[in-house]
Formats: sequence, C-alpha cells, structure tokens
Amino acid sequence: MKGVILAGGLGTRLRPLTLATNKHLLPIYDQPMVFYPIETLVKAGITDILIITGGPHAGDFIRVLKNGKELGVKHLEFAYQENEGGIAQALALAEDFADGGPITTILGDNTTDTDISSAVKGFTDGAVIFLKEVPDPERYGVPVFDPKDKSKIIAVEEKPKKPKSKYASTGLYIFDNKCFDYIRNCKPSARGELEITEVQNQYIIKGKLRWQHLDGFWTDAGKFETLFAANAYWAKKKGVGE
Ligand code: DAU
Repeated sequence: MKGVILAGGLGTRLRPLTLATNKHLLPIYDQPMVFYPIETLVKAGITDILIITGGPHAGDFIRVLKNGKELGVKHLEFAYQENEGGIAQALALAEDFADGGPITTILGDNTTDTDISSAVKGFTDGAVIFLKEVPDPERYGVPVFDPKDKSKIIAVEEKPKKPKSKYASTGLYIFDNKCFDYIRNCKPSARGELEITEVQNQYIIKGKLRWQHLDGFWTDAGKFETLFAANAYWAKKKGVGE
C-alpha cells in the first residue's frame, strides 16, 4: 500500500501564521504538523509516500523533510497542486504515483494517535472511511445512516447546515484505484471545490464504502481552536505538565 498526504491549500483560516510558511509546517507541540500524518502512515507500514502541496511556501517542505528517512519513510515524492481547487482535485495528482493500486490518504492537517494498520492490511477493494463523534458535525463531511439499517451509510454531506448524524468523516481514507475515475466525475461544489465527500458518495452508490470508528484522539488543525487543541493534546501525551 502507498500513502498520500494532501497538504495543499492556502491555509487562509490560519492567517497571519500561514503568511510565513505552509500550514502543514506549523508546530504541533514539538513537531511540524505534517510529521503526524506521516507517522500515522509509517506506523501502518506505509513507507512509500507522496506529499501533494501547493501555494507560495511549497519549497519549505524539502528543507524540513529532506528525503523523509528520519521519519522512517523509504521513498518520498512531492507533487504541486495549482489553484487550490479542492481536496479531490489535489488527490487526482496522485494517479501516476498510485500506479493502479490502492492508496491510504490523509489530510495534512489531521492528527490522530489511532493505529490504522489493521484497516490497511485488511483492505481489499472499494473505500474505507473513519468516523469520529464530534460536537460540531456541521464543520465536516457528515455521514447519513440508513434509518432501517444504522450500520449502513447512504450519503456523506459536506458541511450540512443540519447534520443528520453526530459524526465527522475524518480526513483519513483508504481508496482503491477507482477513486481516480470518481474524481473525474466530480463537479465543483458551491464553494468551487472538487469535494472528497463526492468521491465517497460515488463509492456509496456502487455499494463499496465501508466505515469504522476512529477510536483514539483525532482532530484537524486547520483553524486556531483546533490547532490549539492539537497542541494541547500532543504536549500532554508527550509528558508536558506531568
Ligand atoms: O478534517 C476532515 C474534513 O476535511 C472532512 O470532514 C471534510 O469532508 C473535508 O472536506 C475536509 O474539510 P475542511 O474544510 O476541513 O478541508 P480544508 O479545506 O481545511 O482542507 C483540509 C486539507 O486538505 C488541507 O489541510 C490541505 C488539503 N487540501 C485542501 C484544499 C482545499 C489540498 O491539498 N488542496 C486543496 O485545494
């Protein structure tokens, strides 16, 4: 299995911090943000990794990560996304890298201490998404469950005003290679982006989307409150305040 980290976008919600560098290089306690998704992949045995980034500070990644060896990465590639056209548009750039196989994808501003090894090792085909119960589902992609069968997801809605469940579809996904065909079918959303939830919905239509709970800590770190929460969690976990 290969891994893809999506670290494009302009990080506008974190300005002025992101005027100086890319959002995913800002600190979460003692490490740059992007180290966390890399560690999640490496822990799951994925050491062949593509980082997709963009914007004016893309070159900073090389200075920080070099060839990734210090983090246990065996092969590190980069791709550059122009125009910040959404998560699915960024993922489309991974098609050659995926080389016909499946990919585990993590949004570069997501941090978790959950071990996803068994999901990665047991993956066969279709898609696997990871759900987390959150107090503010309207900020995320939100799964809608079948009223007749609560284990079945019938849609994933992007930032719904009235969420139909209390779960977030987190930014961790395992996709088979069909995701690239599904991205080609995507149309820009109202916010002008190719949405990753639309890719999930196409797997649902084909009956090929599975889900599991993300048991451990998870947060994105894309706005000040969540960046702070991520810092607080990881500092405590690494012994600060003991
Ligand atoms: O964190 C989980 C949520 O992430 C999901 O529940 C949503 O379904 C998903 O759309 C996404 O929502 P956000 O609004 O939080 O996404 P954001 O625009 O902050 O982008 C998250 C990461 O995706 C960002 O850190 C880098 C990458 N990205 C984003 C865009 C818009 C790219 O690589 N390129 C892009 O064009």
